[in-house]
Amino acid sequence: MSSALDAATTRFVANHPKSAELHQGALASLPGGNTRTALWTAPFPISIARGEGYKVWDEDGNEYNDFVSDLTAGLYGHSHPVLQQALVQAIYTIGTNLGGTTKYEQRYASLLCERFGLDLLRFSNSGTEANIHALAAARRFTGRRKVIAFRGAYHGSVLAFANGVAANNVDPEDWIVCQYNDVVGLEEAFQANKEVAAVILEAAQGSGGSIPANPEFLDAVRSLSQEAGALFILDEVMTSRLGPGGLKGVLQLKPDLVTLGKYLGGGMPFGAFGGRADILSVYDPRSSSSLAHSGTFQNNALMLNAGFIGASQVYTADVAEALNRRGDELRAALNKAFEGTIFCVTGRGSLMCVHAPKNGLRPQDIACKDDVAPFEDLDLKKLFWLEMLEAGFWLQLRGSIALNIQLPDEVLSAFVDAVRGFCKKNIGIIALPSSLT
Ligand SMILES: Cc1ncc(COP(=O)(O)O)c(C=O)c1O
Repeated sequence: MSSALDAATTRFVANHPKSAELHQGALASLPGGNTRTALWTAPFPISIARGEGYKVWDEDGNEYNDFVSDLTAGLYGHSHPVLQQALVQAIYTIGTNLGGTTKYEQRYASLLCERFGLDLLRFSNSGTEANIHALAAARRFTGRRKVIAFRGAYHGSVLAFANGVAANNVDPEDWIVCQYNDVVGLEEAFQANKEVAAVILEAAQGSGGSIPANPEFLDAVRSLSQEAGALFILDEVMTSRLGPGGLKGVLQLKPDLVTLGKYLGGGMPFGAFGGRADILSVYDPRSSSSLAHSGTFQNNALMLNAGFIGASQVYTADVAEALNRRGDELRAALNKAFEGTIFCVTGRGSLMCVHAPKNGLRPQDIACKDDVAPFEDLDLKKLFWLEMLEAGFWLQLRGSIALNIQLPDEVLSAFVDAVRGFCKKNIGIIALPSSLT
Protein backbone atom coordinates (compact mmCIF):
# COMPACT_ATOMS: atom_id res chain seq x y z
CA MET A 1 0.00 0.00 0.00
CA SER A 2 1.40 3.40 -0.93
CA SER A 3 2.12 5.89 1.84
CA ALA A 4 -0.40 8.27 0.21
CA LEU A 5 -3.11 5.63 0.59
CA ASP A 6 -2.02 4.87 4.17
CA ALA A 7 -2.23 8.55 5.05
CA ALA A 8 -5.63 9.01 3.34
CA THR A 9 -7.01 5.93 5.13
CA THR A 10 -5.80 7.26 8.48
CA ARG A 11 -7.53 10.58 7.79
CA PHE A 12 -10.72 8.72 6.73
CA VAL A 13 -10.82 6.86 10.04
CA ALA A 14 -10.12 10.05 12.01
CA ASN A 15 -12.87 11.96 10.17
CA HIS A 16 -15.58 9.33 10.63
CA PRO A 17 -15.67 8.23 14.28
CA LYS A 18 -19.46 8.12 14.42
CA SER A 19 -19.66 5.99 11.24
CA ALA A 20 -17.12 3.60 12.79
CA GLU A 21 -19.16 3.39 15.98
CA LEU A 22 -22.40 2.76 14.06
CA HIS A 23 -20.67 0.05 12.05
CA GLN A 24 -19.56 -1.66 15.27
CA GLY A 25 -23.18 -1.60 16.44
CA ALA A 26 -24.48 -2.94 13.12
CA LEU A 27 -22.25 -6.01 13.38
CA ALA A 28 -24.55 -7.34 16.10
CA SER A 29 -27.57 -7.70 13.80
CA LEU A 30 -26.36 -7.56 10.19
CA PRO A 31 -23.72 -9.86 8.63
CA GLY A 32 -20.62 -7.69 8.42
CA GLY A 33 -22.85 -4.79 9.42
CA ASN A 34 -24.19 -4.76 5.84
CA THR A 35 -27.52 -5.27 4.07
CA ARG A 36 -26.58 -4.03 0.56
CA THR A 37 -23.33 -5.49 -0.77
CA ALA A 38 -22.61 -2.68 -3.24
CA LEU A 39 -22.38 -0.17 -0.39
CA TRP A 40 -19.70 -2.01 1.59
CA THR A 41 -16.32 -0.29 1.87
CA ALA A 42 -13.41 -1.18 4.14
CA PRO A 43 -12.53 -0.47 6.89
CA PHE A 44 -16.18 0.52 7.45
CA PRO A 45 -18.84 2.29 5.37
CA ILE A 46 -19.61 5.96 5.90
CA SER A 47 -23.02 6.21 7.52
CA ILE A 48 -25.22 8.68 5.65
CA ALA A 49 -27.55 10.70 7.85
CA ARG A 50 -29.66 12.51 5.26
CA GLY A 51 -29.90 14.00 1.79
CA GLU A 52 -31.32 17.20 0.38
CA GLY A 53 -31.22 18.53 -3.17
CA TYR A 54 -27.93 17.35 -4.67
CA LYS A 55 -26.18 16.86 -1.31
CA VAL A 56 -25.85 14.21 1.36
CA TRP A 57 -24.49 14.53 4.90
CA ASP A 58 -22.87 11.77 6.90
CA GLU A 59 -23.38 11.03 10.60
CA ASP A 60 -20.00 12.64 11.25
CA GLY A 61 -21.23 15.98 9.94
CA ASN A 62 -19.37 15.94 6.62
CA GLU A 63 -21.19 17.34 3.58
CA TYR A 64 -20.89 15.86 0.08
CA ASN A 65 -22.11 16.63 -3.44
CA ASP A 66 -23.94 13.46 -4.42
CA PHE A 67 -22.45 11.83 -7.53
CA VAL A 68 -23.68 8.36 -6.46
CA SER A 69 -27.37 9.22 -6.86
CA ASP A 70 -28.29 5.90 -5.26
CA LEU A 71 -26.56 3.94 -8.02
CA THR A 72 -28.84 5.64 -10.59
CA ALA A 73 -32.15 5.31 -8.66
CA GLY A 74 -31.62 8.80 -7.20
CA LEU A 75 -31.93 10.53 -10.56
CA TYR A 76 -34.29 13.13 -9.07
CA GLY A 77 -31.86 14.13 -6.32
CA HIS A 78 -33.12 14.27 -2.76
CA SER A 79 -36.48 15.53 -1.53
CA HIS A 80 -37.57 16.78 -4.93
CA PRO A 81 -40.60 18.95 -4.06
CA VAL A 82 -42.81 17.52 -6.82
CA LEU A 83 -42.08 13.95 -5.72
CA GLN A 84 -42.45 14.77 -2.04
CA GLN A 85 -45.86 16.17 -2.84
CA ALA A 86 -46.76 13.08 -4.91
CA LEU A 87 -45.84 10.77 -2.03
CA VAL A 88 -47.62 12.80 0.63
CA GLN A 89 -50.68 13.08 -1.58
CA ALA A 90 -50.73 9.31 -2.10
CA ILE A 91 -50.40 8.67 1.63
CA TYR A 92 -53.24 11.04 2.51
CA THR A 93 -55.64 10.55 -0.37
CA ILE A 94 -55.10 6.98 -1.61
CA GLY A 95 -53.59 4.93 1.20
CA THR A 96 -50.84 2.36 1.12
CA ASN A 97 -52.11 -1.24 1.38
CA LEU A 98 -55.34 -1.39 -0.57
CA GLY A 99 -55.27 -5.07 -1.50
CA GLY A 100 -57.14 -4.43 -4.74
CA THR A 101 -56.64 -3.39 -8.35
CA THR A 102 -56.47 0.40 -8.75
CA LYS A 103 -56.70 2.87 -11.60
CA TYR A 104 -53.15 4.01 -10.84
CA GLU A 105 -51.73 0.81 -12.35
CA GLN A 106 -53.10 1.47 -15.82
CA ARG A 107 -52.29 5.17 -15.65
CA TYR A 108 -48.58 4.51 -15.09
CA ALA A 109 -48.42 1.39 -17.28
CA SER A 110 -49.79 3.28 -20.26
CA LEU A 111 -47.26 6.10 -19.78
CA LEU A 112 -44.36 3.64 -19.59
CA CYS A 113 -45.62 1.63 -22.60
CA GLU A 114 -45.84 4.77 -24.67
CA ARG A 115 -42.50 6.14 -23.53
CA PHE A 116 -40.50 2.96 -24.03
CA GLY A 117 -42.42 1.56 -27.03
CA LEU A 118 -43.92 -1.48 -25.28
CA ASP A 119 -47.23 -3.22 -26.07
CA LEU A 120 -47.87 -4.41 -22.52
CA LEU A 121 -46.10 -4.26 -19.19
CA ARG A 122 -46.17 -5.69 -15.66
CA PHE A 123 -44.84 -4.10 -12.49
CA SER A 124 -42.53 -5.75 -9.98
CA ASN A 125 -40.76 -4.72 -6.78
CA SER A 126 -37.24 -4.36 -8.17
CA GLY A 127 -35.11 -4.57 -11.27
CA THR A 128 -34.00 -8.03 -10.15
CA GLU A 129 -37.58 -9.26 -10.12
CA ALA A 130 -38.31 -7.59 -13.46
CA ASN A 131 -35.49 -9.61 -15.01
CA ILE A 132 -36.45 -12.84 -13.26
CA HIS A 133 -40.01 -12.55 -14.57
CA ALA A 134 -38.97 -11.44 -18.04
CA LEU A 135 -36.77 -14.55 -18.18
CA ALA A 136 -39.67 -16.71 -16.98
CA ALA A 137 -41.82 -15.24 -19.75
CA ALA A 138 -39.14 -15.94 -22.35
CA ARG A 139 -38.77 -19.53 -21.14
CA ARG A 140 -42.50 -20.18 -21.17
CA PHE A 141 -42.94 -18.50 -24.56
CA THR A 142 -40.09 -20.37 -26.27
CA GLY A 143 -40.34 -23.62 -24.31
CA ARG A 144 -36.55 -23.43 -23.80
CA ARG A 145 -34.40 -22.85 -20.71
CA LYS A 146 -30.93 -21.62 -21.62
CA VAL A 147 -30.12 -17.92 -21.54
CA ILE A 148 -27.13 -16.06 -22.94
CA ALA A 149 -25.75 -13.31 -20.70
CA PHE A 150 -22.45 -11.38 -20.83
CA ARG A 151 -19.45 -11.23 -18.53
CA GLY A 152 -19.53 -8.11 -16.40
CA ALA A 153 -23.32 -7.86 -16.62
CA TYR A 154 -25.45 -7.19 -13.58
CA HIS A 155 -29.13 -8.04 -13.95
CA GLY A 156 -29.90 -8.18 -10.23
CA SER A 157 -28.80 -9.73 -6.98
CA VAL A 158 -29.14 -13.34 -8.17
CA LEU A 159 -28.32 -12.52 -11.79
CA ALA A 160 -24.80 -11.11 -11.50
CA PHE A 161 -22.13 -12.10 -14.02
CA ALA A 162 -19.11 -10.10 -12.90
CA ASN A 163 -16.72 -12.97 -13.64
CA GLY A 164 -19.01 -15.48 -15.32
CA VAL A 165 -21.93 -17.17 -13.57
CA ALA A 166 -22.41 -15.84 -10.04
CA ALA A 167 -22.13 -18.15 -7.06
CA ASN A 168 -25.61 -17.27 -5.87
CA ASN A 169 -27.19 -17.75 -9.26
CA VAL A 170 -30.17 -20.05 -8.92
CA ASP A 171 -29.21 -22.57 -11.61
CA PRO A 172 -25.82 -22.11 -13.34
CA GLU A 173 -26.66 -24.93 -15.80
CA ASP A 174 -29.15 -22.63 -17.50
CA TRP A 175 -26.62 -19.94 -18.40
CA ILE A 176 -24.18 -19.40 -21.25
CA VAL A 177 -21.93 -16.45 -20.45
CA CYS A 178 -20.29 -14.75 -23.45
CA GLN A 179 -17.88 -11.85 -23.73
CA TYR A 180 -19.47 -8.40 -24.06
CA ASN A 181 -19.03 -6.67 -27.42
CA ASP A 182 -17.72 -9.92 -28.98
CA VAL A 183 -19.74 -10.81 -32.07
CA VAL A 184 -17.72 -13.94 -32.88
CA GLY A 185 -18.13 -15.29 -29.34
CA LEU A 186 -21.87 -14.77 -29.58
CA GLU A 187 -22.06 -16.53 -32.96
CA GLU A 188 -20.16 -19.49 -31.49
CA ALA A 189 -22.49 -19.65 -28.49
CA PHE A 190 -25.51 -19.83 -30.77
CA GLN A 191 -23.85 -22.49 -32.92
CA ALA A 192 -23.04 -24.62 -29.87
CA ASN A 193 -26.45 -24.21 -28.22
CA LYS A 194 -29.55 -24.76 -30.30
CA GLU A 195 -32.08 -24.32 -27.50
CA VAL A 196 -31.55 -20.74 -26.36
CA ALA A 197 -34.61 -19.07 -24.85
CA ALA A 198 -33.20 -15.56 -24.62
CA VAL A 199 -30.26 -13.21 -24.74
CA ILE A 200 -30.25 -10.68 -21.89
CA LEU A 201 -28.20 -7.55 -22.40
CA GLU A 202 -27.49 -4.07 -21.05
CA ALA A 203 -26.86 -1.80 -24.04
CA ALA A 204 -24.28 -0.09 -21.83
CA GLN A 205 -23.03 -2.21 -18.94
CA GLY A 206 -23.57 -0.28 -15.71
CA SER A 207 -22.11 -2.08 -12.69
CA GLY A 208 -19.65 -3.72 -15.09
CA GLY A 209 -17.90 -0.36 -15.43
CA SER A 210 -20.08 1.87 -17.66
CA ILE A 211 -19.06 0.21 -20.91
CA PRO A 212 -21.28 0.96 -23.92
CA ALA A 213 -22.10 -1.75 -26.46
CA ASN A 214 -20.89 -1.06 -29.98
CA PRO A 215 -23.44 -0.90 -32.82
CA GLU A 216 -22.21 -4.06 -34.62
CA PHE A 217 -22.58 -6.06 -31.42
CA LEU A 218 -26.11 -4.77 -30.83
CA ASP A 219 -27.03 -5.64 -34.42
CA ALA A 220 -25.61 -9.13 -33.91
CA VAL A 221 -27.59 -9.66 -30.69
CA ARG A 222 -30.76 -8.80 -32.55
CA SER A 223 -30.14 -10.79 -35.72
CA LEU A 224 -28.58 -13.88 -34.13
CA SER A 225 -31.30 -14.20 -31.52
CA GLN A 226 -33.97 -13.76 -34.16
CA GLU A 227 -32.41 -16.44 -36.41
CA ALA A 228 -32.21 -18.84 -33.45
CA GLY A 229 -35.79 -18.23 -32.30
CA ALA A 230 -34.49 -16.76 -29.04
CA LEU A 231 -35.86 -13.59 -27.46
CA PHE A 232 -33.83 -10.42 -27.00
CA ILE A 233 -34.31 -8.99 -23.50
CA LEU A 234 -32.95 -5.46 -23.14
CA ASP A 235 -32.17 -4.64 -19.51
CA GLU A 236 -32.80 -0.90 -19.22
CA VAL A 237 -32.91 -0.89 -15.42
CA MET A 238 -29.98 1.54 -15.39
CA THR A 239 -29.94 2.82 -18.96
CA SER A 240 -33.55 3.95 -19.39
CA ARG A 241 -32.43 7.37 -18.09
CA LEU A 242 -30.04 7.79 -21.06
CA GLY A 243 -32.72 9.14 -23.38
CA PRO A 244 -36.41 10.05 -23.39
CA GLY A 245 -37.24 6.48 -24.51
CA GLY A 246 -34.17 4.87 -22.94
CA LEU A 247 -31.25 3.50 -24.94
CA LYS A 248 -33.84 1.55 -26.92
CA GLY A 249 -35.04 4.87 -28.30
CA VAL A 250 -31.61 6.48 -28.71
CA LEU A 251 -30.13 3.47 -30.53
CA GLN A 252 -33.33 2.38 -32.27
CA LEU A 253 -33.09 -1.11 -30.77
CA LYS A 254 -35.76 -3.71 -31.34
CA PRO A 255 -35.82 -5.96 -28.27
CA ASP A 256 -38.67 -8.40 -27.64
CA LEU A 257 -38.75 -7.52 -23.94
CA VAL A 258 -37.46 -4.56 -21.93
CA THR A 259 -36.88 -4.39 -18.19
CA LEU A 260 -37.02 -1.18 -16.15
CA GLY A 261 -36.23 -0.10 -12.60
CA LYS A 262 -34.52 2.44 -10.36
CA TYR A 263 -35.65 6.10 -10.65
CA LEU A 264 -38.89 5.14 -12.40
CA GLY A 265 -40.34 4.37 -8.95
CA GLY A 266 -39.99 8.06 -8.06
CA GLY A 267 -37.85 7.05 -5.06
CA MET A 268 -39.95 3.99 -4.15
CA PRO A 269 -38.99 0.35 -4.84
CA PHE A 270 -39.78 -0.33 -8.49
CA GLY A 271 -39.37 -2.72 -11.35
CA ALA A 272 -41.26 -3.40 -14.57
CA PHE A 273 -40.94 -5.61 -17.61
CA GLY A 274 -42.76 -5.24 -20.86
CA GLY A 275 -42.67 -5.66 -24.60
CA ARG A 276 -44.45 -7.79 -27.19
CA ALA A 277 -48.09 -8.52 -26.38
CA ASP A 278 -47.84 -12.15 -27.51
CA ILE A 279 -45.02 -12.76 -25.00
CA LEU A 280 -46.57 -10.79 -22.13
CA SER A 281 -49.78 -12.75 -22.59
CA VAL A 282 -48.12 -15.69 -20.79
CA TYR A 283 -49.05 -13.70 -17.67
CA ASP A 284 -52.70 -13.09 -18.72
CA PRO A 285 -54.71 -14.55 -15.81
CA ARG A 286 -57.74 -15.09 -18.07
CA SER A 287 -55.93 -18.15 -19.40
CA SER A 288 -55.92 -21.19 -17.12
CA SER A 289 -52.35 -22.01 -18.17
CA SER A 290 -50.93 -18.55 -17.49
CA LEU A 291 -47.86 -18.01 -15.35
CA ALA A 292 -48.52 -16.59 -11.90
CA HIS A 293 -46.74 -13.39 -10.94
CA SER A 294 -48.00 -12.26 -7.59
CA GLY A 295 -46.19 -9.81 -5.37
CA THR A 296 -47.71 -7.91 -2.47
CA PHE A 297 -46.16 -4.57 -3.32
CA GLN A 298 -46.30 -4.78 -7.12
CA ASN A 299 -49.12 -2.24 -7.37
CA ASN A 300 -48.29 -0.15 -4.33
CA ALA A 301 -49.84 3.27 -4.50
CA LEU A 302 -46.78 5.26 -3.44
CA MET A 303 -44.66 3.90 -6.29
CA LEU A 304 -47.46 4.15 -8.87
CA ASN A 305 -48.14 7.77 -7.96
CA ALA A 306 -44.60 9.06 -7.43
CA GLY A 307 -43.31 7.08 -10.42
CA PHE A 308 -46.00 8.47 -12.71
CA ILE A 309 -45.56 12.06 -11.58
CA GLY A 310 -41.77 11.85 -11.75
CA ALA A 311 -41.79 10.42 -15.27
CA SER A 312 -44.49 12.72 -16.61
CA GLN A 313 -43.69 16.02 -14.86
CA VAL A 314 -40.03 15.92 -13.84
CA TYR A 315 -37.90 13.66 -16.06
CA THR A 316 -39.42 14.91 -19.30
CA ALA A 317 -37.79 14.37 -22.71
CA ASP A 318 -36.08 17.78 -22.55
CA VAL A 319 -34.72 17.17 -19.07
CA ALA A 320 -33.43 13.72 -20.09
CA GLU A 321 -31.66 15.13 -23.13
CA ALA A 322 -30.12 18.01 -21.17
CA LEU A 323 -28.88 15.78 -18.34
CA ASN A 324 -27.23 13.33 -20.72
CA ARG A 325 -25.63 16.12 -22.74
CA ARG A 326 -24.16 17.51 -19.51
CA GLY A 327 -22.96 14.02 -18.63
CA ASP A 328 -21.15 13.71 -21.97
CA GLU A 329 -19.52 17.10 -21.39
CA LEU A 330 -18.49 16.17 -17.86
CA ARG A 331 -16.96 12.88 -19.02
CA ALA A 332 -14.95 14.68 -21.71
CA ALA A 333 -13.73 17.26 -19.16
CA LEU A 334 -12.74 14.51 -16.69
CA ASN A 335 -10.81 12.61 -19.36
CA LYS A 336 -8.98 15.82 -20.20
CA ALA A 337 -8.19 16.42 -16.52
CA PHE A 338 -6.84 12.87 -16.26
CA GLU A 339 -4.57 13.22 -19.32
CA GLY A 340 -1.04 11.96 -18.64
CA THR A 341 -2.25 9.67 -15.81
CA ILE A 342 -3.40 6.07 -15.76
CA PHE A 343 -6.95 7.23 -14.94
CA CYS A 344 -9.72 7.45 -17.54
CA VAL A 345 -13.51 7.61 -17.64
CA THR A 346 -15.87 5.45 -19.73
CA GLY A 347 -19.61 5.78 -20.04
CA ARG A 348 -22.46 7.38 -21.81
CA GLY A 349 -24.57 10.43 -20.93
CA SER A 350 -25.29 10.76 -17.23
CA LEU A 351 -23.66 7.41 -16.34
CA MET A 352 -19.89 6.95 -16.20
CA CYS A 353 -17.11 5.10 -14.43
CA VAL A 354 -13.58 6.12 -13.41
CA HIS A 355 -10.95 3.46 -14.13
CA ALA A 356 -7.26 3.26 -13.26
CA PRO A 357 -5.83 0.69 -15.70
CA LYS A 358 -2.09 0.22 -15.23
CA ASN A 359 -1.79 -0.82 -18.88
CA GLY A 360 -2.71 2.70 -19.97
CA LEU A 361 -5.94 1.80 -21.78
CA ARG A 362 -8.02 4.75 -22.92
CA PRO A 363 -11.85 4.73 -22.98
CA GLN A 364 -12.01 3.86 -26.67
CA ASP A 365 -9.89 0.73 -26.01
CA ILE A 366 -12.26 -0.65 -23.36
CA ALA A 367 -14.84 -2.98 -24.92
CA CYS A 368 -15.55 -5.22 -21.95
CA LYS A 369 -14.91 -5.52 -18.23
CA ASP A 370 -12.09 -8.02 -18.79
CA ASP A 371 -10.21 -5.39 -20.83
CA VAL A 372 -9.88 -3.20 -17.77
CA ALA A 373 -10.73 -4.92 -14.46
CA PRO A 374 -7.67 -7.22 -14.24
CA PHE A 375 -5.37 -4.24 -14.83
CA GLU A 376 -6.91 -1.75 -12.41
CA ASP A 377 -4.63 -0.30 -9.75
CA LEU A 378 -7.09 -0.74 -6.90
CA ASP A 379 -4.90 1.12 -4.41
CA LEU A 380 -4.83 4.22 -6.62
CA LYS A 381 -8.54 3.89 -7.26
CA LYS A 382 -9.12 3.84 -3.51
CA LEU A 383 -6.83 6.83 -3.04
CA PHE A 384 -8.93 8.71 -5.62
CA TRP A 385 -12.14 7.79 -3.80
CA LEU A 386 -10.76 8.84 -0.39
CA GLU A 387 -9.41 12.16 -1.68
CA MET A 388 -12.64 12.96 -3.52
CA LEU A 389 -14.59 12.33 -0.30
CA GLU A 390 -12.28 14.76 1.46
CA ALA A 391 -12.92 17.29 -1.30
CA GLY A 392 -16.67 16.89 -0.69
CA PHE A 393 -17.73 14.53 -3.49
CA TRP A 394 -19.79 11.44 -2.67
CA LEU A 395 -18.64 8.74 -5.10
CA GLN A 396 -18.66 4.98 -5.27
CA LEU A 397 -15.38 3.22 -4.54
CA ARG A 398 -15.72 1.22 -7.76
CA GLY A 399 -15.70 4.49 -9.70
CA SER A 400 -19.31 4.55 -10.94
CA ILE A 401 -20.88 7.99 -11.21
CA ALA A 402 -24.57 8.74 -11.82
CA LEU A 403 -25.66 12.35 -12.18
CA ASN A 404 -28.88 13.56 -10.64
CA ILE A 405 -30.94 16.35 -12.14
CA GLN A 406 -30.37 18.69 -9.18
CA LEU A 407 -26.57 18.87 -9.57
CA PRO A 408 -25.81 22.40 -10.84
CA ASP A 409 -23.18 23.18 -13.49
CA GLU A 410 -20.89 24.84 -10.94
CA VAL A 411 -20.73 21.62 -8.92
CA LEU A 412 -19.85 19.62 -12.04
CA SER A 413 -17.07 22.17 -12.73
CA ALA A 414 -15.92 22.00 -9.10
CA PHE A 415 -15.65 18.22 -9.47
CA VAL A 416 -13.44 18.61 -12.55
CA ASP A 417 -11.29 21.09 -10.56
CA ALA A 418 -11.03 18.59 -7.70
CA VAL A 419 -9.91 15.90 -10.17
CA ARG A 420 -7.27 18.30 -11.55
CA GLY A 421 -6.10 18.94 -7.99
CA PHE A 422 -5.89 15.20 -7.30
CA CYS A 423 -3.82 14.67 -10.47
CA LYS A 424 -1.46 17.52 -9.66
CA LYS A 425 -0.94 16.39 -6.07
CA ASN A 426 -0.40 12.72 -6.94
CA ILE A 427 1.22 12.92 -10.37
CA GLY A 428 4.33 11.17 -9.00
CA ILE A 429 2.34 7.98 -8.40
CA ILE A 430 -0.44 8.18 -11.02
CA ALA A 431 1.48 9.33 -14.13
CA LEU A 432 1.20 7.12 -17.18
CA PRO A 433 4.63 5.53 -17.65
CA SER A 434 6.40 7.03 -20.71
CA SER A 435 6.52 3.53 -22.26
CA LEU A 436 2.70 3.68 -22.50
CA THR A 437 2.24 7.24 -23.77
C1 LIG B 1 -28.72 -3.31 -15.23
C2 LIG B 1 -29.38 -3.70 -13.94
N1 LIG B 1 -30.35 -4.62 -13.95
C3 LIG B 1 -30.98 -4.99 -12.82
C4 LIG B 1 -30.66 -4.43 -11.61
C5 LIG B 1 -31.35 -4.86 -10.37
O1 LIG B 1 -32.23 -3.87 -9.91
P1 LIG B 1 -32.65 -3.85 -8.37
O2 LIG B 1 -31.47 -3.43 -7.59
O3 LIG B 1 -33.80 -2.89 -8.33
O4 LIG B 1 -33.09 -5.24 -8.04
C6 LIG B 1 -29.67 -3.45 -11.55
C7 LIG B 1 -29.29 -2.83 -10.27
O5 LIG B 1 -28.31 -2.16 -10.13
C8 LIG B 1 -29.01 -3.08 -12.75
O6 LIG B 1 -28.02 -2.17 -12.75
